[in-house]
Amino acid sequence: MQDLKKKIAHKIIAFSKITFRDFMEMALYDPEGGYYNSEGEKIGAKGDYYTSANLSQIFGSLLAKQFFEIYQAQATDRLRIIELGAGTGLLALDILSTLENDYSLTEVDYLIVEPSQVLRKKQRSKLEKFKNRVDWVDLEELVKKPTEAIFLANEVIDALPVHRACWQKGKLKELYVGNTETSFTPVWDEPSTKEILQFLKRFDIVLADQQVIEINLDAIKLLQKISQALTSGYVFIIDYGDLNDHLYLPEHKDGTLRCFYKHRVNSDPFSCIGEQDITSDVDFSALIDYGLEFGLETIRFTRQADYLIKLGLLDKLEELLKDSNQDLKSFKSRLALKNFFVPGGISDHFKVLIQKKAKKD
Ligand SMILES: C[S@@+](CC[C@H](N)C(=O)[O-])C[C@H]1O[C@@H](n2cnc3c(N)ncnc32)[C@H](O)[C@@H]1O
Repeated sequence: MQDLKKKIAHKIIAFSKITFRDFMEMALYDPEGGYYNSEGEKIGAKGDYYTSANLSQIFGSLLAKQFFEIYQAQATDRLRIIELGAGTGLLALDILSTLENDYSLTEVDYLIVEPSQVLRKKQRSKLEKFKNRVDWVDLEELVKKPTEAIFLANEVIDALPVHRACWQKGKLKELYVGNTETSFTPVWDEPSTKEILQFLKRFDIVLADQQVIEINLDAIKLLQKISQALTSGYVFIIDYGDLNDHLYLPEHKDGTLRCFYKHRVNSDPFSCIGEQDITSDVDFSALIDYGLEFGLETIRFTRQADYLIKLGLLDKLEELLKDSNQDLKSFKSRLALKNFFVPGGISDHFKVLIQKKAKKD
């Protein structure tokens, strides 16, 4: 990814330094060479990491069950789902297939907001069977024509570019990226925006000296747009993260930024630029609090494991265990399902936030 490195280096030379947020945005989303805009597998066994949709199609089928319940309670005869960041399209496929096969629901408009053209292409081919129900849209267009819908973002917020900040001897500093002849270097300087201090004050976040925090201002802007795109409906945000009283404990002294490259985790965003994923934990307190400001009331915030169990995960497991088929594939699907609730696995870290926008009278 030499070209992307050069492009970033030129930008740094032009501005003397760029914020870590802008670096991360280019590393992940640059149209020519950003991680999510380059060919090659990202998600799954041949990629860099798994998402819940990859672990088992039961994840999507349980969400479909929930969406069908919402559909039954609403007045309109079509169900509109808007998925942000659909990755390979696998989750959309599982949801649409379950709605049709288990609930005979074909009156579905499934809209996808996907900034990566490479991923859009993959999604199109994966969802060929449902091409009459699926379309790709920009969030801005949806904001112009708000509707009743369910928004879904699975492991999207953690992939948004973040500012990184810390206090140094009583002074707030932001992380920038500078350049030497051979490498990118971290540079701590005055914050690029007042919003960083405003965020820390709004949530009374107290950090130890030199403790690094990631601040996801993009997530807040995205949530506001989601709300603007809804006349009424629901927002499902599923992601790795926590409430702020856990997230900013001194034990997270270096923050929560992580990189994934071929299923290995590292903490160096300057290595394998454009070839590795960069992610940070989601601050659900911020989404809950700003959500209220934007008209989204939190109706549920829970561990993903508890949420899936409530929707019938254990019944699904029992069905699989009854399956007399003892081949490797069946064994693997049983094993994969356990990842959703066995302590120490993803079940401890993933959360589900459900927000509701009520109809205006
Ligand atoms: C980690 S992948 C998650 C994929 C998928 N949701 C899944 O569960 O397998 C992150 C996805 O979010 C997309 N994304 C990044 N920024 C976005 C934004 N502002 N709006 C919508 N999608 C975005 C990426 O292109 C990618 O498809």
